[in-house]
Amino acid sequence: MIVIKSVDVTKAKRIVVTSALPYVNGVKHLGNLTGSILPADVFHRFLDLFNVENIYICGTDEHGTPSEVSAMKEGMDVKAYCDKYHEIQKSIYKKWNIDFTHFGRTSTKENEEITQDLFLRMYKNGYILEKEMTIPYCNHDKMYLPDRFIEGTCPYCGYEHAKGDQCEKCGHLLDPEELINPHCTICGGTDIVFKKKKHLFLDFSKLQGRLEEWIKSNDHWPSNTRNFALGWMKSGLRPRCITRNLNWGIHVPLKGYEDLVFYVWFDAPIGYISITKEWCKSDDELEKWWNSDSLIYHFLGKDNIPFHTIFWPGMLMAAGKYTLPYYVAGYEYLNWNGGKFSTSLGNGLFTDEALELFPADYWRFYLVSILPETKDSNFSWDDFKKKINGELLGNYGNLFYRIVYFIKSKFGGIVPDAELGDDERKFMEAFENRLDELVKSVSNVRLRESLRIVMSMARDLNQYFQERKPWASDDESSKRTLYFSVNVMRMITQLLRPFVPSISDRAMKMLNAEGVEWKKFTEFTIRPGHKISNVEHLLEPISQDEIERAKKYRSKYSKSDDKKKRGGSMEIPFEEFSKLDLRVGKVISVEDHPNAERLYLVTVDFGSEKRRLVAGLKKYYSKDELLGKKIIVVMNLEQKEIRGIKSEGMLLAADDGETVSLLTVDRDVELGSKIR
Ligand code: MF3
Ligand code: ZN
Repeated sequence: MIVIKSVDVTKAKRIVVTSALPYVNGVKHLGNLTGSILPADVFHRFLDLFNVENIYICGTDEHGTPSEVSAMKEGMDVKAYCDKYHEIQKSIYKKWNIDFTHFGRTSTKENEEITQDLFLRMYKNGYILEKEMTIPYCNHDKMYLPDRFIEGTCPYCGYEHAKGDQCEKCGHLLDPEELINPHCTICGGTDIVFKKKKHLFLDFSKLQGRLEEWIKSNDHWPSNTRNFALGWMKSGLRPRCITRNLNWGIHVPLKGYEDLVFYVWFDAPIGYISITKEWCKSDDELEKWWNSDSLIYHFLGKDNIPFHTIFWPGMLMAAGKYTLPYYVAGYEYLNWNGGKFSTSLGNGLFTDEALELFPADYWRFYLVSILPETKDSNFSWDDFKKKINGELLGNYGNLFYRIVYFIKSKFGGIVPDAELGDDERKFMEAFENRLDELVKSVSNVRLRESLRIVMSMARDLNQYFQERKPWASDDESSKRTLYFSVNVMRMITQLLRPFVPSISDRAMKMLNAEGVEWKKFTEFTIRPGHKISNVEHLLEPISQDEIERAKKYRSKYSKSDDKKKRGGSMEIPFEEFSKLDLRVGKVISVEDHPNAERLYLVTVDFGSEKRRLVAGLKKYYSKDELLGKKIIVVMNLEQKEIRGIKSEGMLLAADDGETVSLLTVDRDVELGSKIR
């Protein structure tokens, strides 16, 4: 027996469903969709089925440095870049049958107005602090540098590529001002000055008590979400900086701060409200959706939990105008064939690519069946095939076909007249119980369970059909079986619509039937004499060939695969590459490794220092050949012992499988010169 922890959604007055606003830059992968947009869509479609007044709001999250940088890479103006990717994402979600009431964006006039208004309310209510910060400014690029865009030597460990906020070698947290010899990672220059700049902070420490109480009171939340939030609260909330020195964003409407914009995480969730406003147009309507008798349900991935359970509600509390979230569904991660989704490693599949392989409804069905509600879950191609062929087709599609096929072949497609008996009455009793359980599972936002319940209804109907053998029984009996089955089939088909909308719609068309409103849901609306329209298979099974082809499919968003074949590696960010310290050195002695036949010990002079390397070159170079060569060495690799001797660097060589050739310099440069 399922117990409802939160409200019975069929009795809710009004609900706003949202899913985390995807960053505008780039197409999202399946993990992203499965952890927010897809379950939100299923939930929203159930609310429609239950005839609950509701809207589903989402859109692209567009401000901030990442958009600016991505636009720069594509050589586009940031506004045009956002326009382009907003449209691309929108059209992909349409193909996924995502039924947004409105898919908006955060760079609208509405979002600017509401963000500025909410900020001013927080300000009036005393939650905004001003603090002076010292921020690096690049005179060459004429811009303030975010922490990740300034580098220098770490004052603690001497590592030369420490970032403005942290040294990745020794782990010390840093202020950009502490860096020795800082330089700008955009232009590489060192013409950096530190300017004092006043910034604005939202004082979350003032909200600590209220937030904690509120989170505790939400015991209808899923336990992963709630525990995560409570864990965060323990370390105590501090003021958070809500402004940035950027151009692309919403300007701060306060005297003395006009040149700052809000931090992207500040205006993004306000997008939920402003996108509603953009859709409903009037302030009164907006009031209706975001006032206290409306329930707000947020759907999002694990990494967004603290934000939606603490910071966003905190912002709403500080502003005091709109209602707080009622429910926060935080999803765990979906893994891809046992590994993490990763764009750069090419692991996983993107939302547009998935649809090149299989229809949207197959994906929807399978992904909901493995929705990571309480723990991480795993996608596997073999399981995908098993669930589609065995469940969606084997349990639902085939039964659907058999029922309409018999009506066609035995009764010319006309639903026969029949009296229902005890079998049917018993069936309906059990069915109504299952329906109750279904409502409860949806109310608890346990959508995997909801799908299981609907599939178990199909299983029951299969069993009933099988036992009554309409193909072998007399006319009266088979009339009864078919009249009953086609009506229950209509119910099951309607219940499947939130999961597989186009399959469900096609099935309803074949039945020539209309959806029935929730109050009358179990009425037998397909009356004797009703003509079904045509008989076709609803779905095609997935073949092993298709699965093999899918397994070989390589994401176009990663170029890593052919690189791997050629012996290279995956794509790494530019800043990562520049961390490598490569230098020119001259070989001054070569000895045999005492414990290994194929290895040399090579001593290399870099001018200011000498190092000894262990190198597997014996097969390819004689000692004399090596002596005096100017070679390229990686200086800052983690040092490794090879057969008992530590190698203090790694020399670079090309290797085509047969010949090995050392990299050297083709002009005379000083020993110790850096390679860039
Ligand atoms: N763009 C963010 C992400 O993809 C989510 C923003 S959610 C919002 O992680 F609430 F801030 F809109
Ligand atoms: Zn610069």
